[in-house]
Amino acid sequence: MRLDKFLSDMGVASRKETAKAVRAGLVLVNGIPAKSPDQKVDETKDTVAFCGREIAYQKFVYLMLNKPEGYLSATEDGRGATVLDLLPEEYRRMELFPCGRLDKNTKGLLLLTNDGDLCHRLLSPKYHVEKTYALTAKFPISDEDIQTLESGVDLGDFVTKPAGVKRTGEKTLELTITEGKFHQVKRMLEALHNQVIDLERIAFGGLTLPKNLARGDFRPLTETEQNTLFAKGNRTT
Ligand code: URA
Repeated sequence: MRLDKFLSDMGVASRKETAKAVRAGLVLVNGIPAKSPDQKVDETKDTVAFCGREIAYQKFVYLMLNKPEGYLSATEDGRGATVLDLLPEEYRRMELFPCGRLDKNTKGLLLLTNDGDLCHRLLSPKYHVEKTYALTAKFPISDEDIQTLESGVDLGDFVTKPAGVKRTGEKTLELTITEGKFHQVKRMLEALHNQVIDLERIAFGGLTLPKNLARGDFRPLTETEQNTLFAKGNRTT
C-alpha cells in the first residue's frame, strides 16, 4: 500500500501532512527516510516511523464509547452533534461509524469501528447478539409486566422475542434483548402502559460498560474484548 495511505488509515497524518513530513525527512521506512509519499510499503513487514514515532498498522479499529445524552448515533448530521464529535482528530480520519444506534437521549455503551463486516454480523438477527439496558420507568413495574417482557411483548407490528429481565427496583430494570428494532425498549414499556424516562446500555455482544469509562470517554477494545466480539459475530480473526 502507499505510504500516505498507511499513515492516513492509522489516523497519523493526512496525505498533505505526509507529503510535508516526507520532504522534511521525518518519515522513515525501515529506518531509511522515505523518498516520496506514494512509496509502497508492506504493512505486514515494514517498519514505519513518523516524526520519531513507530506506527503499527492495524486494519480495523474498535473503540468503546460511553455515549452521553444529546449525541446522535450517526457519522454526520446537519441537525446536531454526533458521537464522532467526541473523538479526537486522529480517530476522525479513520472512517469509523457507530455499530448500531442509540437514541439521542440514550446513553451508555456504543461500539465504533470501521469493520463493516463484523458490525453487520453483530446487528444481524441471525446471530442473536445480546444487548442489556438499564432503564428507569415513569410508573412502577408489576411482576405481571415482567412476565410479559420475559415471554414476549406484542408491539402491534411484531412480537418481541423473550427478554432477560432483572428487577433492580420498583421502577428500574435491566432488560436484555437480542433484537434491535427502532426504539424497541421504549416501545416495549409503552406497550405495558408505562414510559421509559432514563435509558442506558450497559452491555453489548459480551462486553460490559466499564465503571471507569466516564460518560463521553472512549477507549480501544483490548484484544480479549475484540475476540469476544469476533466470537459473537462468529469470526475467528
Ligand atoms: N431501545 C430504545 O428504545 N432506544 C435505544 O436507544 C436503544 C434501545
